[in-house]
Amino acid sequence: MKIAKTIAEMKELRRQMPQKVGFVPTMGYLHEGHITLVRLAKSENGAAVVSIFVNPTQFGPKEDFEKYPRNTERDIAMLSAVGTDVVFMPEPKEMYPPKFNSWVTVEGITERLEGASRPGHFRGVTTVVNKLFNIVEPTKAYFGQKDAQQALVIQKMVADLNMNLQVVVVPTVREPDGLAMSSRNIYLSTEERRGAPVLWKSLELAQKLWNNGQRNGEQIRREMIDLIEDEPLARIDYVSVADTESLHELKEMKRPPLVSLAVWFGKTRLIDNKVLEDPA
Ligand code: PAJ
Repeated sequence: MKIAKTIAEMKELRRQMPQKVGFVPTMGYLHEGHITLVRLAKSENGAAVVSIFVNPTQFGPKEDFEKYPRNTERDIAMLSAVGTDVVFMPEPKEMYPPKFNSWVTVEGITERLEGASRPGHFRGVTTVVNKLFNIVEPTKAYFGQKDAQQALVIQKMVADLNMNLQVVVVPTVREPDGLAMSSRNIYLSTEERRGAPVLWKSLELAQKLWNNGQRNGEQIRREMIDLIEDEPLARIDYVSVADTESLHELKEMKRPPLVSLAVWFGKTRLIDNKVLEDPA
């Protein structure tokens, strides 16, 4: 496994690789969710590039950029073990030199949900992912359903700007109790960790209501909120029942919606989602 620290090194290594390359952008502090993406990138393309870059431009001024968890040595060992070919890990000043002044913005769907709670977040994500695509030139790039809106925004950017790659969205990897794996789970105290599966429980409740014929989005939201509010450590940011493409909130539904939520546990903000399924 090779490690590139500069853009020039990464581009040189890319020149030596076969045409087909799978790419997984990450912010490091890797877990089984990330590794699932990497395994798929490797098996579908024969070669895999992974980036580790805690992207400063997607964090708000009051967010956790400085204390975002980092453990590069462990990340490198995990990536090597699953056959990663190249790890790209640039410094912030390599990606954003002085006078950097170009941004990629997807309008519309970025204004809701995570975009409403985290102004400027998606502009940072689309800009860095566009830069990474230009540097790595992958044939396929892998994103987790865990960040459903991010995956949609990237798909929209790739389609709107005619980028020459295919986006693959991979199902969310969960802990045995349903909690979606996340680098931020490390922030949770023992008590908070115990309460955190309420996100998944509320999504399962939504699916159960759907199975029982509930088609009113407001009712589903109401019951999810009631369940989460029974968890004393949980503080709701949003609970959404929305169209899977436009992300508009839905009242009466004909097709299964995207149900998504953001919930604070102390200083930690957790997100999760599920596209409801019609019963078989
Ligand atoms: P990060 O949070 O490190 O996530 C990297 C990729 O792993 C994302 O596509 C994310 O959706 C996926 N992922 C995270 N947890 C997952 C889980 N439990 N199951 C499946 N996939 C999971 O998302 C980012 O980094 C950044 O915004 C990035 C795209 C790298 C741009 O900076």
